[in-house]
Amino acid sequence: MSRNIVTALDIGTTKVGCVIAEKLEEKLIVIGAGVVPSEGMSRGTITNIVKITNAISEAVQIASKEAGVNVSSLNIGVSGEHIQTIRHHGYVTIESEDNEIKQSDVDKLESEVRKLQNSANLEILHIIPEKYIIDGNDDISDPVGMIGRKLEADNNVVMASISAIANLERAVQRAGYSVKAKVLQSLASSYSVLTEEEKQLGVLLIDIGGGTTDIAIFHDGRMKFNGIIGKAGIEITKSISDTFNILEKDAEKIKIDFGFASQKSIVTNYEVTIRNDGGNNPQKTDVSTISQIISPTISNLFRYIDMKLDQHKIKKFVRTGIVITGGGSKMRGIIDFAKEIFGKNVRLGIPRNIESRVGINILHPEFSTLLGLIQNVPAFSVESKVEQKENKKNIVVKNILDKIRQIFSEL
Ligand SMILES: Nc1ncnc2c1ncn2[C@@H]1O[C@H](COP(=O)(O)OP(=O)(O)OP(=O)(O)O)[C@@H](O)[C@H]1O
Ligand SMILES: [Mg+2]
Repeated sequence: MSRNIVTALDIGTTKVGCVIAEKLEEKLIVIGAGVVPSEGMSRGTITNIVKITNAISEAVQIASKEAGVNVSSLNIGVSGEHIQTIRHHGYVTIESEDNEIKQSDVDKLESEVRKLQNSANLEILHIIPEKYIIDGNDDISDPVGMIGRKLEADNNVVMASISAIANLERAVQRAGYSVKAKVLQSLASSYSVLTEEEKQLGVLLIDIGGGTTDIAIFHDGRMKFNGIIGKAGIEITKSISDTFNILEKDAEKIKIDFGFASQKSIVTNYEVTIRNDGGNNPQKTDVSTISQIISPTISNLFRYIDMKLDQHKIKKFVRTGIVITGGGSKMRGIIDFAKEIFGKNVRLGIPRNIESRVGINILHPEFSTLLGLIQNVPAFSVESKVEQKENKKNIVVKNILDKIRQIFSEL
């Protein structure tokens, strides 16, 4: 019996991660994982394809070796400020004699939406039906089988820059693999951290990564709104590096070892010595001073999100509260700080419904997107184009190389 294997790749600003999972009955078990530092990505967009290709190669090979499974195609996450979501309204007249609405009518509406991508330099990632209207009757979730003369639909259409997507696919292909499905990163994270109840009643998901903070609102089981902000963990590291005049890698360590989102979460202040590889003499500071550098960036980010929700009049959907995930959510005190700023229930989003049998601990918030990419691919996502010739060639070459390696390792 063939095994049911799912593979995913998250090309983040700070790390590239690959997981290979096996579906056994209702269980999803991660059997291989590879995570390597990412270089050549800035705020969700590739800036150096050679570096990213190498990181993808490395991450997939590590995961593949651990799982003992050869990888050919992967689901990938897409983010970046180039993503645009628009609301599209369309209609069709029902032509069948008995006026019964068929799947073909719904498909016709969808093909109207697809025409959008011819007019701009954008590729459609997802078409998310918001609601259907039959002869003026609102809020119908599934019109197939119902009777009517005119079917209207409101869709949320998530689109991404054609060139940004092409470069992501190219990097994956150059590493020797093909892209199976492309999923908006916040949607992927939602599959691994949100409960069905939260998505039904209304929730705001905030994924704080290294280069981008991705936000999405879910209500009635569907994504209602999404946005990508080009500020996240790296911004905090930069402000620490600027203040103490130290290298970013030293500032990163200070942030992780001694960072607090707000002074209020510090129980006792204590002294910290800042050493760095940049040549400056060690400096003395304390955790309270460090949090005064971190706090404004986080508070500005949360206030900006709050303002966006007001602007789009969508705060009413945040009924159960807010879930914060991504590496940035590991900052000490961030949950309480978010509660204070938003005045809502806030919880940490950790990947759920997954069993892990791998060496590294992947059940952490920085792997929410990656683990969401193996949990689900939305029915309304646009599958990747057929593998390109160049890619097939790469896979053939890779298989031959794998065979040769195997022969040598058996000697
Ligand atoms: N313990 C911690 N405290 C504070 N920040 C942390 C901690 N651990 C990780 N981070 C921060 O999380 C960020 C990385 O998060 P994540 O791995 O989710 O990003 P990414 O997926 O690589 O980037 P993006 O999604 O923006 O493309 C880094 O800026 C890192 O400093
Ligand atoms: Mg990420």
